[in-house]
Amino acid sequence: MDKKVYIETYGCQMNLADSETVAGIMLAKDYSGVKEINEADVILINTCSVRDNAEQKIWNRLNHIKSLKKKNKNLKVGIIGCMAQRIGEKLLEHQAVDFVAGPDAYRSLPELIMETDIDLKPKNLNFDINETYSGIEQIKQSENNISGFVAITRGCNNFCSYCIVPYTRGRERSSNYLDIIKEVKNLEKQNFKEITLLGQNVNSYYFEDKNLKVDFPKLMEMLAQTVPNMRIRFTTSHPKDLSDDLIDVMAKYKNICKHIHLAVQSGSNKILEKMNRKYTREWYLNRIEAIKSRIPNCALSSDIFCGFSGETEEDFQETLSLMQIVEYDLAFMFKYSERPGTHAAKHLDDNVPEDVKKERLARMIKLQNKISLKKNKEDIGKIFEVLVEGKSKRSESMLYGRTEQNKVVVFDAGNAKQGDFVNVKILEVSSATLKGEILVESL
Ligand code: SAH
Ligand code: SF4
Ligand code: F3S
Repeated sequence: MDKKVYIETYGCQMNLADSETVAGIMLAKDYSGVKEINEADVILINTCSVRDNAEQKIWNRLNHIKSLKKKNKNLKVGIIGCMAQRIGEKLLEHQAVDFVAGPDAYRSLPELIMETDIDLKPKNLNFDINETYSGIEQIKQSENNISGFVAITRGCNNFCSYCIVPYTRGRERSSNYLDIIKEVKNLEKQNFKEITLLGQNVNSYYFEDKNLKVDFPKLMEMLAQTVPNMRIRFTTSHPKDLSDDLIDVMAKYKNICKHIHLAVQSGSNKILEKMNRKYTREWYLNRIEAIKSRIPNCALSSDIFCGFSGETEEDFQETLSLMQIVEYDLAFMFKYSERPGTHAAKHLDDNVPEDVKKERLARMIKLQNKISLKKNKEDIGKIFEVLVEGKSKRSESMLYGRTEQNKVVVFDAGNAKQGDFVNVKILEVSSATLKGEILVESL
């Protein structure tokens, strides 16, 4: 009889994509997926370590899961993902945890689960530089069968001094372009309308075989031509590697969405250097200018954090001023959280007091909300092509979708349905959402 597996995912989009891979591996081995945690024979929790609060969430969750194990003595619980890789041994000490597996070890999950019957608490935290999960059919985990992820690189070689990711995901590697094309065509066959190419730094994608040398702009071009009726997105780009070739390819193909997520982290050269980001404020602003001049309707978003080692009020002011110059449509903002084992944890004091971090974060968020509102107001009266993702949470008669700039738009449904491309005229905006009406005639 089939055993039932329940997968819960935390962290970034890469983890969402990995959970689809994990589902593919489990379902190929006589498991079936369930959406209710109470029905599961096996629970897999795919975790994140990027900031301390991401890990705290998992510890809290484990206390709840412990109570489920009291009710079902045969329940097996596995922790997978970045936190498993970072502190797998410690997680195994928790009563609720039966086994752990890191991001390169998912093919061994069915075996690890079998071992829980004989061994006490198995683990697989090995890195595998060749692992790209080639040949595994991913199983969608969300209800939305419109927009899908395709991982094109795994791991990271950048070693930004604050960041745990290179330690949890190992060295960077790129998938074979033929596998990527196959996966994208497969999604197209299943009627998906949009793909997002994923990697910690997609710009450094590179794969070569005896026929071709494929870098990221080349891969984008190949995909744009392969699936001309699908939207193509990518995330995330490292500013140091954002080439003019990529900007040109984006400008050339209609189906490549006009949105670039270009994490700046800080606006101060002193801090950028301590972060080992390998670019300056000036270089970054030059890239932004190149994008704005060649793709005028391109949306820009960023990750920014405050309170890194040695950040003074002046350094922080430089971050605020950069935000004002760029005018991001959207930004994800954080305060620095020291991660054990990173260069910063070993060599740079976490010396900005917590209350100062909090206060700076609040100022940053306030400024960004103002900028987002201003940018969204510029959209009023304009017409955008929107890919309909589903019914709005607030009202049954309303739909929501995204513009190619990745902005969420809510509108009256009319005859439109999930998966349609519709033209919507923007009437009202907030800092987070646009509201509009469908235009009946096409553009
Ligand atoms: N590879 C991506 C980022 C992955 S982590 C990139 O380079 O763009 C997502 C974001 O979390 C980072 O961009 C950074 O803003 C934030 N982050 C990473 N480590 C952090 C830390 N130790 N404390 C606070 N924020 C952090
Ligand atoms: Fe972390 Fe830097 Fe790699 Fe992004 S590029 S994952 S921030 S080390
Ligand atoms: Fe993603 Fe968190 Fe790992 S951001 S790569 S799941 S540490």
